[in-house]
Amino acid sequence: MFPIERSRRTRRTEGLRRLAGESVLTQDDLVLPLFVIDGKDRTEEVPSMPGVTRRTADRLRSFAESIRSPAVLLFGVPEDREKDECGSAALSDDGCVPAAIRALKSERPDLVVITDVCLCAYPTHGHCGVSPDGSGPDNDATLELLAQMANVHAGAGADVVAPSAMMDGQVAAIRQALDGAGRGQVAIMAYAAKFASAFYGPFRDGARSAPAFGDRRSYQLPPANRREAVRDALLDEREGADWLMVKPAMPYLDVIADLRRESRLPIAAYQVSGEYAMLKRATEAGALDERGAVLESLIGVKRAGADAIITYYAEEVCEWIGR
Ligand code: PBG
Repeated sequence: MFPIERSRRTRRTEGLRRLAGESVLTQDDLVLPLFVIDGKDRTEEVPSMPGVTRRTADRLRSFAESIRSPAVLLFGVPEDREKDECGSAALSDDGCVPAAIRALKSERPDLVVITDVCLCAYPTHGHCGVSPDGSGPDNDATLELLAQMANVHAGAGADVVAPSAMMDGQVAAIRQALDGAGRGQVAIMAYAAKFASAFYGPFRDGARSAPAFGDRRSYQLPPANRREAVRDALLDEREGADWLMVKPAMPYLDVIADLRRESRLPIAAYQVSGEYAMLKRATEAGALDERGAVLESLIGVKRAGADAIITYYAEEVCEWIGR
């Protein structure tokens, strides 16, 4: 018999497989996204994302104790009547996000609170920046608002702000504003490689933030462009980002791997609403084993090079894997 190269030896028993394990997923990797609404003592289910709930700040306070993930990412979902042409509710110190930050921090000072910094849920037109002539976001006019919004969140106690509007220069503008306000300790997690993705569909339902006209292709990245994504992310690094994020996760594992090589910053990946809904619906239909499919989707993201993963499955995963 000819000699066979044997690679199955390291896979023979559970112990051998564990010993040769390359990537691990732990609770410490997970960030739970949370939708926050105005008002008191209210929750709402998000129809397109089974298992995902919008909560008022006081409901978040009572939920806080049970959160097992080390970090949360907050999204404000203002009522339609709060929206105006320039999204001014985003800058209010007693808006739903600052209230949520204070509620969470008073209950759980240990919890890492990250906030999404983007206008899209606040103006009536649903774009990620101000649109003075109605044609879509004006880049430089938007920077000032994003910087103010970041300062409002930081002032309420956010540990990390995560700009996701994809305006050029947003990281530098926010860094400058935070430093100017004496908030040099607040970190920036840049949505550095954020693609114009069909997988955000359920989120726009969750956050009531679908654009009223056009789409986001003039500011988010084209799904076909890997080099452009890396170039854009490295600009964010130079502007002072502390974290780089890739979003969505599963269709863009090559970009995560590229950034892992090109940067020394920690990298986060966002398993977005469409990825979540896809897994949920397929498991509800009995087509996939939920735990197996979800854990495999996440270990793939770790293997590609991510240090942290933002996922709507964070709490379920904590329960499944323990510590
Ligand atoms: C805001 C924002 C979006 C998501 C996170 N921040 C939506 C968008 O760009 O349209 C998507 C998150 C998800 O799909 O889970 N700009």
